Amino acid sequence: MLAYGHNMLKRWMANNVIITGASDGIGLELAALYAAETDSLVGVGRRPQDQLSNWPNNASYFQGDQANPDFADQLLSHIKGLGWDHIDNLIVNAAVGETGDPVDETAENIQLTLDTNLIGPIILAQKFHPLLAASPNRSCLTLIGSVAHKGAANFASYAASKAGLAGFARALHEEWKHEIDVQILHPGATATNMHEKAGLQLGKARKYFINPQYSARKIKSEISTGKPVATIGHKALALDRVKNLFGAGV
Ligand SMILES: NC(=O)c1ccc[n+]([C@@H]2O[C@H](COP(=O)([O-])OP(=O)(O)OC[C@H]3O[C@@H](n4cnc5c(N)ncnc54)[C@H](OP(=O)(O)O)[C@@H]3O)[C@@H](O)[C@H]2O)c1
Repeated sequence: MLAYGHNMLKRWMANNVIITGASDGIGLELAALYAAETDSLVGVGRRPQDQLSNWPNNASYFQGDQANPDFADQLLSHIKGLGWDHIDNLIVNAAVGETGDPVDETAENIQLTLDTNLIGPIILAQKFHPLLAASPNRSCLTLIGSVAHKGAANFASYAASKAGLAGFARALHEEWKHEIDVQILHPGATATNMHEKAGLQLGKARKYFINPQYSARKIKSEISTGKPVATIGHKALALDRVKNLFGAGV
């Protein structure tokens, strides 16, 4: 019990952290949270660094494409170039999606969605295993899924990619349980730019979406527990609001 608390505290005070999809949305919020407590943070995004807004001064940035099969090797050599010999937290958050009738989706888009959201994370996990295993703390691989893994109208290939990721996370959790925590966290609808990028205009519905800062805080809190699966949806938000009323919120 004491050791568990010690591990949790160490993970809460994260050291070497990598976040993919850190140039926008939930990932950018997560980068701000981690940068507040470590100078050893590498964020990844497709856009060049000079196009980032509010990037933390003490964090470094790597421009790369998670859909590219060589991406994991490129990121690995960047990390080794920084002199890191281990990683405490690898947070695989980057994803894309396209909305619309599945019969209209192009083969190119289906490929891009699966390469970014499923194949890329699998290769990252494989290539970063040695650095995660080398952590003096209990390290954690966090895969960002989606409530869409259960199926989502107008997001068929995105939902399929997240369902695949959930299956991968379950399998890897079993494989690595003696050395590394593997978890998948499923955010609910969050007010980032993702929907517009996917071709969906939210309009007034946006106000019912979860605030990305809340999602990031909750994700960071779930990472500190290392538990294998959690959903960060409206139910969690409602529960936290009730807890806040009684002074016990996150
Ligand atoms: N927003 C929601 O309602 C919602 C709901 C459930 C789950 N999620 C999940 O939460 C995570 C974050 O979503 P978000 O809403 O924050 O999305 P977002 O605002 O669109 O941000 C996505 C991030 O991923 C990066 N990215 C996309 N494709 C990439 C690639 N091939 N290589 C490297 N980086 C790439 C983007 O980089 P660039 O902008 O530089 O290209 C950006 O930093 C995703 O896994 C998403 O599936 C979101």
